[in-house]
Amino acid sequence: MFAQNNLKLDIDSSNIKISKEIYGHFSEHLGTCIYEGIYVGEDSDIPNIKGYRKDVVEAIKELKVPVLRWPGGCFADTYHWKDGIGPKEDRPSIVNVFWGGVTEDNSFGTHEFLDFCELTGIEPYLSINVGTGTVQEAVEWVEYVTSSNQSPMTELRKKNGREKPWDVKFWGIGNENWGCGGDMAPDYYANLFRNYSSYIRGNDFQKVICGPSGNDVVWTETILEGLKGKNHLAQGVSMHYYTLPTANWSEKGSSTNFEEEMWFSTLRNTMYIEDYIKQHLAVMDKYDPEGKMKLIVDEWGTWYDKLPGTKEGFLQQQNTVRDALVAGINLNIFNNHADRISMANIAQIVNVLQSVILTKDQEMVKTPTYQIFKMYNVHQDANLIPINLETENYEYNGEVIPALTASASQKNGVTSITITNANPNKAIPMDLQLGRDFKSVKGKIVTGKEITDYNHFGEKEKVFISDFKIGKIKNEVLALKVPAHAVILIQLQ
Ligand code: AHR
Repeated sequence: MFAQNNLKLDIDSSNIKISKEIYGHFSEHLGTCIYEGIYVGEDSDIPNIKGYRKDVVEAIKELKVPVLRWPGGCFADTYHWKDGIGPKEDRPSIVNVFWGGVTEDNSFGTHEFLDFCELTGIEPYLSINVGTGTVQEAVEWVEYVTSSNQSPMTELRKKNGREKPWDVKFWGIGNENWGCGGDMAPDYYANLFRNYSSYIRGNDFQKVICGPSGNDVVWTETILEGLKGKNHLAQGVSMHYYTLPTANWSEKGSSTNFEEEMWFSTLRNTMYIEDYIKQHLAVMDKYDPEGKMKLIVDEWGTWYDKLPGTKEGFLQQQNTVRDALVAGINLNIFNNHADRISMANIAQIVNVLQSVILTKDQEMVKTPTYQIFKMYNVHQDANLIPINLETENYEYNGEVIPALTASASQKNGVTSITITNANPNKAIPMDLQLGRDFKSVKGKIVTGKEITDYNHFGEKEKVFISDFKIGKIKNEVLALKVPAHAVILIQLQ
């Protein structure tokens, strides 16, 4: 007899690779993500490498961030790339109309972003302006960035100090074009996408059509209908889904000050994403039965009320044990759909929404979400192991969600299993049915004393990765207890 909670691994059926890009990030010209968070300029008192914060560069390298999306978000459909190249003193400014109405000096542009990616070993993912841009502007950007031909754009790039082209494979064509990206109707956008995409050419380009938010399957259906016969123009369909504790955009809930009611609703709302993913995949299967187009969840994460005293439109929030759970749950879900999800980008990398890094002047903290991404790194480019999870429910006020989520993979002879326990009050005993014996077992855990614990500037970290003690495997079964409000990693060899 196995415990009520048990996880069965089907190691022999492991043949799908978890694309490392599922562990991707997003950086927008929004609040202090780019300016202050990533880029402080070479003259700053904050230690920097060519203007990039040294502490942030190091933290990002340690995290093995595989891919970074830029320049937006909503900002992307207002961004004209030529304003961000050439001598900084000659660059025109831009008013960031979506985010705080601040005037930016364009000192962080194409070169600065792509050089940052090279410095940190990240693949860039560029978002093309469809809302206020033109096909010609997009074509010239692609030529400027990726071409090795002799042409006016490549000459301009060389004049600006870059001889070789950069290697950019991922191109998003528009962002949220159903909303901030032009308030377009789906059939209109689909035609526009076809027009842009047919001129955006390059070796192995992965071009992404702007997909829906949440469960808007009508948008997905209409854009794919509009693409019919021209599927080769899109290699990916994007999808956005943000977790709000409430369903109310004007009172979303605090990032730090919450009790079990908001803990529960946040995790419940996070779990909805799996159903939305399935709904979109079903539509995609209809138009692309061979599954050539991949689903790209290029914005996800928590969205709370802004921190008291912070600027309107800067989307600054703290990050607690609850965010660690949200990250662990989402990443388990994405891993388990690795056959169709080829990329995901948490919003956003520094200082905005569910960040992995927060900065304040000279200081930097690694958030609970950072700890999860670091612990889950073992899944990057590993082979997904199919699982069967039986879990008890976590009940709050008459409503239930599954207490546990999990995913498993293997790479270089190591089997890695990540498990989340959403129940804040109860450690959950479970059996792992491994299907074979292993010589060694190791465990790691991310949790906090309280569900509201977070890492604060100038204080000792409260939420971090520590060792998690586990017993021995008996008859191919590992019995363990997943602590309350925790995310664990088990590694077997
Ligand atoms: O990540 C913040 C914003 O959320 C992005 O700019 C937009 O695409 C989405 O609505």
